[in-house]
Amino acid sequence: MMRAEDHDLASEIAGIVGQEHVLRDADLCASYETDWTRRYTGASRFVVRPGSTGEVAAVMRACERAGAAVVPQGGNTGLVGGSVPRRGEVVLSLRRLAAVEAVDDAGGEVTAGAGVTLAVLQEHAREAGWAFGVDLASRDSATVGGMIATNAGGIRMMRYGPMRAQVLGIEAVRADGSVIRRMPGLRKDNTGYDLPGLLCGSEGTLAVVTGARLRLVPALPSRAVALLAVPDARTALALAARIRAATPAVEAQEVFFAEGIELVCRHTGLSLPFARAYPAYLLVECAAQTDPLPALAEAIDSASGVLDSAVASDRRLREELWQYRERHTEAISAEGVPHKLDVAVPLGAYAGFERRVREAIVSAAPGARPVLFGHIGDGNLHVNVLGLEPADERASNAVLRLVAELGGSISAEHGVGVAKIPWLHLTRSPEDIVAMAAIKRALDPRGILNPGVILPMEPLSARG
Ligand code: MLT
Ligand code: ZN
Repeated sequence: MMRAEDHDLASEIAGIVGQEHVLRDADLCASYETDWTRRYTGASRFVVRPGSTGEVAAVMRACERAGAAVVPQGGNTGLVGGSVPRRGEVVLSLRRLAAVEAVDDAGGEVTAGAGVTLAVLQEHAREAGWAFGVDLASRDSATVGGMIATNAGGIRMMRYGPMRAQVLGIEAVRADGSVIRRMPGLRKDNTGYDLPGLLCGSEGTLAVVTGARLRLVPALPSRAVALLAVPDARTALALAARIRAATPAVEAQEVFFAEGIELVCRHTGLSLPFARAYPAYLLVECAAQTDPLPALAEAIDSASGVLDSAVASDRRLREELWQYRERHTEAISAEGVPHKLDVAVPLGAYAGFERRVREAIVSAAPGARPVLFGHIGDGNLHVNVLGLEPADERASNAVLRLVAELGGSISAEHGVGVAKIPWLHLTRSPEDIVAMAAIKRALDPRGILNPGVILPMEPLSARG
């Protein structure tokens, strides 16, 4: 049963966005209240789906006046609990802001609404003869706004950088309903603080991203993918470095292991790529104006440690090889609700970390099952742990402490959300955290935007 004040706010907001875009029915709200991992779930006050920046601004003004906390949400593909309600917040879905403008050929730029999915953006760029620099397995659901809010990395980060590197301008609504709009289409603009850069990775805690001006990259017509079986992470790392040195065409370098490919094959029906299973696999994609396969093949042929290999230029065959990597997330989730740890360590420490982290997990939580994969070119490893209760953080503790000891990051690309707050202090000093809290207070003085995400609730509510 809805409380009277909820009803008043919902009615006021229905007057702004239309009755049909305020969802109060439990069945209609359900898909907005649980994230992709199924580990993070909570009840919303209601879900609102504005259709324009003006409506977002009016909704925020109403929420701020009512002191109602708001959780902004894009495609809800987040993995750290940052885009779902926790204690009766209003969920602000940006998916209806799905307009995308014509590509500006002069600079290779496009303006897109926060609700445009990555797949739509990629296709739009492709039709105009360009490409977008960020790619993720969740491309059909992930949205421009969510990817900016989490500074998404993905599989092409080693070549084009994360989402922050693609954002040339931004439109965002602050908690008080005021609109920040910097969409100049300028490559150089050092006029004051870099607000677009600040909002990238702010996880909906500083403002609600409603649209962005995005850089496109040249479409590269010739592609080659190699899947290489290797004995261990150390060999994968050395091979990855050798291939990078041999050709500038490298666009992606991914690693996965025997336990992951076994899960992928079992849950998706794919057959193993080779006649037998191997301990580790390196997947490499190269892209260029001219065929990158000869240089890639030469680098592979001259390297030691390759136990088996498959290479593909044809689009369908390339996509088949990618399936072994891209379907890890769904295969792991089909096996159980994982603890997802998304960490990075210096490349020099990567191979040792891969070995030590497995030992750390099973020694902290006997019976836990690590499934590792990740973006080896970026030093980023996705440490998934199966077999533990959602509240059992023994393995997370052991992994994140080891990461900190090695000078790594406790969240390389997924963000902090609510999931990583207990370990923030491992890699951010008290001074860092105070500075972040000051920025939060300056932009959202009443603390209504995604409270409890990135920073704990306490310092904000204790500010008096
Ligand atoms: C990926 O690299 O596939 C994503 O980060 C998703 C995940 O970690 O499961
Ligand atoms: Zn990833």
